[in-house]
Amino acid sequence: MIFEELLDVAIKAAHLSSDIILEFSDKSKVVDYKGRTDLVTIADKKSEKLIIDTILDKFQDHSILAEESGSNSKGSKYMWLIDPLDGTTNFVHGYPSYGISIACSIDNIISIAVVKDIVNNDLYTAIMNKGAFKNGKPINISKTKTLIDSLLVTGFGYNHDVNWELNMKLFKHFTDNTQGVRRLGAASIDLCHLAAGIVDGFWEYDLKPWDTAAGKLIVEEAGGKITKLNGDKFNIYQNQILASNKIIHKDLVLDISSIIT
Ligand code: IPD
Ligand code: CA
Ligand code: CA
Repeated sequence: MIFEELLDVAIKAAHLSSDIILEFSDKSKVVDYKGRTDLVTIADKKSEKLIIDTILDKFQDHSILAEESGSNSKGSKYMWLIDPLDGTTNFVHGYPSYGISIACSIDNIISIAVVKDIVNNDLYTAIMNKGAFKNGKPINISKTKTLIDSLLVTGFGYNHDVNWELNMKLFKHFTDNTQGVRRLGAASIDLCHLAAGIVDGFWEYDLKPWDTAAGKLIVEEAGGKITKLNGDKFNIYQNQILASNKIIHKDLVLDISSIIT
């Protein structure tokens, strides 16, 4: 029962904060810069407060890790991981890919997940061992068998460092060896597109736990596989992620290892 209660609260929080974000979509937005191109808007802040208030209203003693306000650890076995607005740059420019990502881990195992794609009004949800859903209907990863038949998606962080250079190489290689690589700018939604079978693989460097926590569970519950770029075990605190429909995973790892030796 606790899983359903957690999911209900996450869904409620996602809908409430999505309404707040939409209210700001035609207003002046940028309030701060975390880096030269790393924007923060009033919508990020208001959305995060609303999500946290909604969670704590029901579960006062749960721990929180949220992008804008950081960690509020209460030593609870329940920890919420919150990206109040994933795809802030898109939101600021009106590019139609941004959403909200909320997950709850129990004893460090991500157990429930919600991603709301605000622009398309799609709600992706998952409970551990109970499958993944889009708007209440089960979703599954694709059945694509080869890289040359695959559509991939990636993202580039705000720091244009050594990982960014490596990713440029991977971007070039996979653009040349698949049906294409998309770059939409909201990692949690990219992961949901993989879970729903729209794309066959996703990778990125330097994501944060709040970017990947919900998407990880949604992808795995939809039948996908997630590792580090070299195929090793992934956890949300690592700085790299490779996710796929499982079938092409080995080929992705092989190609990546040949490019970034
Ligand atoms: C960003 C998005 C983007 C990814 C960046 C993230 P934010 O999150 O998920 O797709 O490429 O690395 O930081 O800053 O919009 O919440
Ligand atoms: Ca994010
Ligand atoms: Ca964010």
